[in-house]
Amino acid sequence: MYTQLQFRDSDRPPVTLGTLSRMKAQGEKIACLTCYDASFAVLTDAADVDVVLVGDSLGMVIQGRDTTVPVTMDHMVYHCAAVARGVHRPLLMADLPFMSYPTRERALENAVRLMQDGGAQMIKLESGGGQVEIVEFLANHDIAVCAHLGLKPQSVHKTGGFRVQGRQEEAAQRMVGDAKRLESAGADVVLLECIPAALGRTITEALAVPVIGIGAGPDTDGQILVLYDILDITTGRKPRFVRNFIAGAGDNLEAIKRYVAAVRERDYPAPEHCF
Ligand code: KIV
Repeated sequence: MYTQLQFRDSDRPPVTLGTLSRMKAQGEKIACLTCYDASFAVLTDAADVDVVLVGDSLGMVIQGRDTTVPVTMDHMVYHCAAVARGVHRPLLMADLPFMSYPTRERALENAVRLMQDGGAQMIKLESGGGQVEIVEFLANHDIAVCAHLGLKPQSVHKTGGFRVQGRQEEAAQRMVGDAKRLESAGADVVLLECIPAALGRTITEALAVPVIGIGAGPDTDGQILVLYDILDITTGRKPRFVRNFIAGAGDNLEAIKRYVAAVRERDYPAPEHCF
C-alpha cells in the first residue's frame, strides 16, 4: 500500500511533480535527460537525473530515421517499459508520437497505454494553440502532462526543417500566449526546444509551472539533452546546444554525472550553446 511512503524518508525519494515545483520555487536547476533502454536507465538513476524522457527522438538515435515521424505507439511503449525497469528515483516522462493525439479521446487512450504498459508517469506532447483542449482533457483525467513548444520535430515537414523558432516578435508573442494557455489548461510542465534565450527567460518567468529547455538558454528552470548527444555517440553535425560530456570522463556514468552537475551548477548551457 502507498509504495512511495516506503521511500519518502530515504535519502533518494522518487522525484514527483511536487519536487519539480519546489525546485523551481527554490531556484534549483532540474537536470533531465532522454533514455531509451534499461541499461542506460540504471545509469541515469545512479547519476541522480531528475526527469528521464523516453523521447520519440528514438526514431533518429535508435532507429536511424531522418525524423521522428515514423515512430509508433508500439515503439514508444516498448522502449518506455524497458526504461521503467531501470529507473527508481527519476520521474519518468514519455512522448506521445506523431499522430497519436489527433483527438482528445485518442490522446487519452494512448497516454493510458504509455502509463499502463510503459510505466510512464508524465506524458509529453508537442503542443500549440491547437492542443489546448487535448492538454485540458488529459489533465482533467489526472494525467501529468508536459506541453512541448518551440521547435516541434513532429512538424518538420510543415515548418520546413529543424530551425530555431520564435525569432520574430509575432511568433515569440504567440508562443508566450500558447504557453500561458497550456498552463491554464492544466499542463504541469512546459518544455521549450530551440528558441532564443531571451524568449526562454520570458516564458519561464511568465509561468508558475516548471519550464525545461533544450537550446532555450540558461534561464529555464531545467535543461534536457539527448543522451546519445552528450555521450558523443551521435555522429555527424550536432545542434549548437549540445555539449560533449564523455570527453575527459572515465565512463558513461561519470559523463552523465558531469552533465547533472553542470546543469545544477549553471555551468551548462554556456553562451555558445544559446541562440
Ligand atoms: O524526443 C525527444 O527526445 C525530445 C527532446 C529533444 C526534448 O523531445
